[in-house]
Amino acid sequence: MSSETETVTITDNTTGKQVTLPMYTPTAGPKVIDIGKLYKELGYFTYDPGFMSTASCSSAITFLDGGRGVLQYRGYPIEQLAEQSSYLEVCFLLLNNRLPKKEELDYFINTVTQHTMLHEAMIRFFSGFRRDAHPMAIMVGCVGALAAFYHDHMDIHNEEHRMITAYRLIAKMPTIAAMSYRYANGKPFVYPRNSLSYTENFLYMMFSMPSEEYTPDPLLAKALDLIMILHADHEQNASTSTVRLAGSSDANPFAAVASGIAALWGPAHGGANEAVVRMLIDINESGKPLQTFVDRAKDKNDSFRLMGFGHRVYKNYDPRARLIREICHKLLNDMEASSEQQKLLDTAMALEQVALHDDYFVERNLYPNVDFYSGIIFLAMGIPMNMFTVIFAMARTIGWISQWSEMMSDHEAKIGRPRQLYTGAIDLDYLPIEKR
Ligand code: SDX
Repeated sequence: MSSETETVTITDNTTGKQVTLPMYTPTAGPKVIDIGKLYKELGYFTYDPGFMSTASCSSAITFLDGGRGVLQYRGYPIEQLAEQSSYLEVCFLLLNNRLPKKEELDYFINTVTQHTMLHEAMIRFFSGFRRDAHPMAIMVGCVGALAAFYHDHMDIHNEEHRMITAYRLIAKMPTIAAMSYRYANGKPFVYPRNSLSYTENFLYMMFSMPSEEYTPDPLLAKALDLIMILHADHEQNASTSTVRLAGSSDANPFAAVASGIAALWGPAHGGANEAVVRMLIDINESGKPLQTFVDRAKDKNDSFRLMGFGHRVYKNYDPRARLIREICHKLLNDMEASSEQQKLLDTAMALEQVALHDDYFVERNLYPNVDFYSGIIFLAMGIPMNMFTVIFAMARTIGWISQWSEMMSDHEAKIGRPRQLYTGAIDLDYLPIEKR
């Protein structure tokens, strides 16, 4: 915890009672007021639904500056990592708080590669799901079930066990994701091929067929690696906070990550990438002007929102959205995208311009976020819409496990147990049913 340098004093204007609370200064970002003793000293809780002004923990992993549109992993700007790093090197960085030396990175990649297979008994799990199950439902189930196979390294207070678990999760998420896709499409499972790179292996497990040769497109593999870097971690977002809360009870990391996957699935969070493309298709099929949809998004009586717009933290451009838009342009250009794909991109670009010049969006600092363009790229890769959030979960696994591991090694960490503003009935007498 950053050293205590200043304090704030709160006065209860009803009783005149005061409490002085410590203030901590971070290495970057807003100072925090430690309210831990507020209830004990003043008898009050704080109230902050959605945690608009609440820091839930101290962390040294990812820094966001929403006003300036800044994102840094372990102090390195996302733009530099996107330009020069790789997803597995970013995994090493997030886990170890430093960039690896060559031999360390080689060892890390080799160790991840050795863990890509699933326990053969797990493969029978898939046949228990309906063929039309959403791949996110399958992924939640399978990741939670990993705890049934890896009892050998589940001492969560043992750093070596936490590292093995990290390797296993990083390595097996693409295998589970690809198998979820293959099962839903009635295709035979394809085992990992460890001679391929991380993202080439995923594309191979997704799209190769036993009946013919398949070589993953290096363009797609590189674009996917870049997109995974951009999705790797993002401070205390809803799914990461879920992983931390689940892990705070000393639940095993597979269960904690499974809870994060469940939280990510929501369209307000990681499910937005799928919702964006469905929205763009609806817009194109409607033949209506874009302003119609922007006006609907502004109408409080209409539940329609511009998916892929707005962010709790970024009140400027999401730096990831800028980078993904560039990848999108380059990939569609290099791939000679189909007319449908180009139409989706054209609609997205036009919608962005309309929204960014509309006072409602400007006044609320609503900009495109990470999900606005990513789905268009996934479609261009031949990835179906119901797999978009699965890929987000694949990429975010390193963030979840790094944040969980940081919490497990934080001696100040306690079980998370928020209180509430109770508004229900009180002190009622039970009425026997014949008298109701
Ligand atoms: C991710 O937290 C993270 O870091 C998440 C993430 C990560 O990497 O982990 O970045 C990934 O989840 C990105 C966000 C993906 N979700 C979407 O694209 C869904 C659409 N966006 C929203 O629903 C919304 O913007 C949120 C959920 C992202 C943020 O919601 P907030 O911060 O709670 O803001 P809010 O809902 O209170 O909105 C503030 C105002 C409201 O209007 P007023 O009441 O002030 O009049 O902005 C409006 C909202 O109605 N608004 C929108 C809007 N988003 C906010 N209006 C129309 N369309 C939108 N998309």
